[in-house]
Amino acid sequence: VSGSQPPRLYTFAGGDSGAWRIVRSTALAGEPLPEASRLAIIPGGASSGAAKWRLRGVTSNERYVTRAEKSELIAKQQGLGRPDSGCAALIPIRKTAAWWALPQDERRRIFEESSRHVRIGLKYLPAVARRLHHCRDLGESEPFDFLTWFEYAPADAAAFDALVAELRASEEWSWVEREIDIRVVRAGP
Ligand code: HEM
Repeated sequence: VSGSQPPRLYTFAGGDSGAWRIVRSTALAGEPLPEASRLAIIPGGASSGAAKWRLRGVTSNERYVTRAEKSELIAKQQGLGRPDSGCAALIPIRKTAAWWALPQDERRRIFEESSRHVRIGLKYLPAVARRLHHCRDLGESEPFDFLTWFEYAPADAAAFDALVAELRASEEWSWVEREIDIRVVRAGP
């Protein structure tokens, strides 16, 4: 891998250490994760060190966005790591086997024409910065399909709650069988 490429593989580890303090963890569907007080985000496939749980995912090419949507996203979105983003959410999600059995065109129809995922998400840019990680391509035994990561300022916490509420009311979420909403704040020095 050339030195200038951003990493694709990230490990999210819940335990006693990490730059983010876990303020709550809510299992909205399926099994919860063991309790942990801190979240560490480690580029690469780290497996050493004590952790209550460890989740891995890779950034990847987009599957659903159209050129027009991609252009709108690029024009509005900001990157992770903004100094005023004191809040963040890690939301691991698994969709049903029935979802994965659908052909691409039907998944796109549910994702956007029915659920308006991008249309809804765009309303919350640039307040919310995000990175999507895919887990399925790592192997058979990953507990989630996606690790979704979002950063925002404390003043935008209510807007973020409105965003997740809008998405969870959509048809897309009827295909979600496991979802854990983990909210974190930047840990003090
Ligand atoms: C900040 C506003 C948001 C924007 C702009 C946004 C945008 C997007 C886009 C463009 C994709 C598709 C990428 C592709 O073409 O493959 C996507 C996928 C996804 N997003 Fe969001 N999103 C937002 C918020 C959220 C939130 C809050 C959640 C979770 C609660 C979420 C969960 C997901 C998941 C699970 C996928 C993968 C869907 C699949 O491939 O089946 N998104 N998002």
